[in-house]
Amino acid sequence: MPESINFNEAPFLGSEFEHIKDAIDSKHISGGGKYTKLCNGILENITGTKKALFTHSCTAALEMSALLLNIEPGDEVILPSYTFSSTASAFALRGAKLVFIDIKNDTLNLDENLLGQAITKKTKAIIPVHYAGVSCEMDGILDIANKYKIAVIEDAAQAVGSYYREKACGSIGDFGCYSFHETKNISCGEGGALLINNERCIEQAEIILEKGTDRSKFFRGQVDKYTWVDLGSSYLPSDMLAAYLYPQLQNVEHINKQRTELWNNYHKSFEEFENREIVKRPFVPAHCRHNAHLYYLRFNSLEIRSKFIEFMNSKGIMCIFHYVPLHSSIAGKKYGKTAGSMKNTDLVSDTLVRLPLFYGMDSQNKIIDCTGSFLSSL
Ligand SMILES: Cc1ncc(COP(=O)(O)O)c(C=O)c1O
Repeated sequence: MPESINFNEAPFLGSEFEHIKDAIDSKHISGGGKYTKLCNGILENITGTKKALFTHSCTAALEMSALLLNIEPGDEVILPSYTFSSTASAFALRGAKLVFIDIKNDTLNLDENLLGQAITKKTKAIIPVHYAGVSCEMDGILDIANKYKIAVIEDAAQAVGSYYREKACGSIGDFGCYSFHETKNISCGEGGALLINNERCIEQAEIILEKGTDRSKFFRGQVDKYTWVDLGSSYLPSDMLAAYLYPQLQNVEHINKQRTELWNNYHKSFEEFENREIVKRPFVPAHCRHNAHLYYLRFNSLEIRSKFIEFMNSKGIMCIFHYVPLHSSIAGKKYGKTAGSMKNTDLVSDTLVRLPLFYGMDSQNKIIDCTGSFLSSL
């Protein structure tokens, strides 16, 4: 049996231990302690957002956005079908109708040109997803959102350290949602953050984060006791998780730089196969600076993709595909509807495959060689 190569390994720097110990020694391991503040501070610095709040997941940050916007039954939200379930579920939980639109055939991001046909009087929000850490066309999205007075929530789960026209992804819409899940560039196992770019929502966001109470104000000495003031939930993670995350956030550039080198190696190695129209490689517009979150190839058919995954598995290399389009999923059919054709979504879902890419990966040559030999055989 060949030595196996994992699809993903969580980033780990080594200094996480000392910070977790420090958090424990400081006797504050619930949420909102020293490390939560440090992480929020770094996020605010690197993104320029008005306020960053560490949460237990990107899903939590998306749910907080839905609560902040008072999404109610009857409201509609527009999102791509080619995304993870949380993008949709957070809004369906509040009773919203999901309106799925197709993705673009180049970046695989929501097609901003299709927004006009999907907007109705009921539309409350647009949720662009920065797929693979490559930004959506935010200028076009904001133009139409401003015209119809619709909120924009960036699902930037995959885009920590990515930029659109030199603005950090997640800092451009009303809210931005980050993920620090172990599959992401920067990770604490399970974690996320809500970036609040609209100053008027900060106080309410803190209340929602803290189980509906004004505990944040209490800790700042702004009230002499804290109490239940509105609806909220428990979205604040332990300070030990923030301690784990802290050194990684400090090293976001270093981690993303190493990932970018790996990404570039793949990209260069497969150029000739794209020229011969055997595969399509990722496309990154010149005005988008990406974080090398994932590397994918697109085959000409589902059959070839299946053969590729089987071939790589036989060499001990894990390659995976995603997503089952939400519009054809069980819950997607129940809570959503499509606006227009889903041609690109369906095609990409059948033909895209992801190659291993993670911080500290040292077996890339073997992956490139095996992929190259499969592609040469086509
Ligand atoms: C686009 C997108 N949105 C949301 C999520 C959910 O992130 P989390 O696991 O932090 O809740 C993910 C996770 O893979 C994702 O890729």
